[in-house]
Amino acid sequence: MISESIGVNASGNLTVGGADCVELAKKFGTPLYVFDENLIRKTCRDFKASIDEYYNSNGQVLYASKAFSCKEMYRIVQSEGLGCDVVSGGELYTALAAGFDAKNIFFHGNNKTPDEIEYALHSGVGRIVVDNLTELETINRIAEQLKVKAEVVLRIKPGIDAHTHDYIRTGQIDSKFGFALENGEAFEAVNMALKFDFIELKGFHCHIASQVCETRPFKEAAEVMMKFMQDIREKYSVTLCELNLGGGFGVKYVETDEQLPFDLFMKETSEVLKKCASDLNYPVPKIFIEPGRSIVGPAGVTLYTVGNVKTIKDVRTYVSIDGGMGDNPRYALYQAEYTVEIANKASEPKNFIATVAGKCCESGDLIQENAPMQTPEVGDILAVLTTGAYNYSMASNYNRIARPMAVMVKDGDARIIVKRETYEDIIRNDI
Ligand SMILES: Cc1ncc(COP(=O)(O)O)c(C=O)c1O
Repeated sequence: MISESIGVNASGNLTVGGADCVELAKKFGTPLYVFDENLIRKTCRDFKASIDEYYNSNGQVLYASKAFSCKEMYRIVQSEGLGCDVVSGGELYTALAAGFDAKNIFFHGNNKTPDEIEYALHSGVGRIVVDNLTELETINRIAEQLKVKAEVVLRIKPGIDAHTHDYIRTGQIDSKFGFALENGEAFEAVNMALKFDFIELKGFHCHIASQVCETRPFKEAAEVMMKFMQDIREKYSVTLCELNLGGGFGVKYVETDEQLPFDLFMKETSEVLKKCASDLNYPVPKIFIEPGRSIVGPAGVTLYTVGNVKTIKDVRTYVSIDGGMGDNPRYALYQAEYTVEIANKASEPKNFIATVAGKCCESGDLIQENAPMQTPEVGDILAVLTTGAYNYSMASNYNRIARPMAVMVKDGDARIIVKRETYEDIIRNDI
């Protein structure tokens, strides 16, 4: 199976974290986001353990909460000893409301508003990851007003090409995120940060891309960043010892995907960092990593009810479900691949090819085209696997469709962690 959360029980039904998907759909309704708590916790522990094993525990794991942000998720990752990264006032608010320790929160974003910067500084977030010079000035000004010193790292584009979709590549010069190395922007930013009285520059950040399935680009980025830190030491006589390598560890959506072997990433990247430190006579930096998708993606499944099956002779078969791009826009955005199962026929062979269509008024509202599945019929429960990341967090109310409920399964039992939206919720802000 695609994820260790997934199984098939004696009734031939698909299971997530030991819970029967057909029973879950009956009890909670569809569409339904289902998450496996044990897998989320295990993955958090695996990330931490690999830093302990290969990097002398000299690092911290920050959950990239854009992948799936709700109060229960922040509680779970905090209880596993992780920090988190947030990219908006809304994510910060949710984390704080869940009781997240502000000093373990890193605040990201390529266009933080002055209000968000004030909120972050006032809340006492651990680090602000600075994206651009305008922002650096604003942080300095607001920190002065609040009489605090802002502890920051600068987001650098290391110029590494990761083989992934264009929309989720961020490490190259033509990206809206961060300071480029090639054209001197990064040096200018350091120069400015060191001059500001209310900024304390702690180190650097880079994030090359998302859904990266090989270790090579991470190792290259680590090397580039170490050389850059050495250049900064030479030029400005400061030794900065924090290096955030971002996230982006790839997961398995379909059988042909290679899940990034995380242990191998940590082992090989640690070797590169230690070797660079030794060659450059530079202290081994404290590292931070920001996994999002890899922590929550494989632990999530979305369940839908099939409303109709439309076969267009000599063209294709559409299977229409009671959700769509409103709860999962990833296929519409960048043709993301998924594995589809008919949950109530999971032990049957997948001998049918169909396109899974949503209920929105858009031809592009598809979840998957020409996907292998068991023979679909009206009333079946259709499951889309590996939907824990960037689904609920990207959901919208397009066509005024209410966002689904999310449940967390632990040892076979499910509890609601996000309520289903109601029609009342839909008009809540209308005047
Ligand atoms: C700065 C930063 N850190 C971490 C992540 C998390 O990436 P992933 O969910 O692929 O691990 C992202 C994703 O876009 C990001 O932009």
